[in-house]
Amino acid sequence: MVRTMTAALKIPHFGYCDEVDLSRLVALRSELRSTAEARGVKLSYMPFFIKAASLGLLHFPVLNASVDEGCQNITYKASHNIGLAMDTLQGLLVPNVKNVQLLSVFDIAQELNRLQALGVGGQLGTSELSGGTFTLSNIGSIGGTYAKPVILPPEVAIGALGKIQVLPRFDASGSVVPAHIMKVSWSADHRIIDGATMCRFSNLWREYLENPASMLLDLK
Ligand code: COA
Repeated sequence: MVRTMTAALKIPHFGYCDEVDLSRLVALRSELRSTAEARGVKLSYMPFFIKAASLGLLHFPVLNASVDEGCQNITYKASHNIGLAMDTLQGLLVPNVKNVQLLSVFDIAQELNRLQALGVGGQLGTSELSGGTFTLSNIGSIGGTYAKPVILPPEVAIGALGKIQVLPRFDASGSVVPAHIMKVSWSADHRIIDGATMCRFSNLWREYLENPASMLLDLK
């Protein structure tokens, strides 16, 4: 952590925050949960967040890239190896789910279960902890609404997810309804990523999660 965070200090971070209405996703997950459990897999929200990020990265590959020290060359990564910050007895670890672009939500949930079991057992190894290309940090599973996530070099972007809260919001007809709201806080390397790109990616990610059925259209 010391080494990575010291290197991260050299990166000019651009911050961008938004909120996502997860009401439909909350309903969908509760529908699918028992099916996943029957197949031996615990289905949390993370697999959806991770898959939506991967679908978004297909449109904004610069967020799944790395840049050399002199900022002369950008390397675009074909694999979406999406890291997730994990709170373990050994402290903060960031294993990653490899090749998310090729995985279903169920595949991601299965791999996440495996990584969590390894994390709890203090058994995460180099293969799980290296090669990440983009990171999500679900700080909301512990509590809290906003964060200011720090990029893990050589990655160039990271998102922090807040706690899902039931809050009043207006529906399309102007009535106040209870909505499941989650705040997201993105940080991006401002040397190669501009605010508009971060914002457009976040909008797309939000659209997938607010209308989770739309993810089906883009699944390979
Ligand atoms: N808001 C509300 N509830 C949430 C949530 C959120 N943002 N994220 C998860 N939950 C719920 C889950 O749905 C689950 O509830 P359930 O039993 O009803 O399904 C419960 O909290 C526990 O979820 P968890 O086992 O933590 O699974 P997960 O896939 O959501 O998260 C990790 C996995 C590894 C991300 C999480 O365990 C963790 O370590 N979070 C901390 C990350 C961290 O330390 N970040 C800071 C880095 S600087």
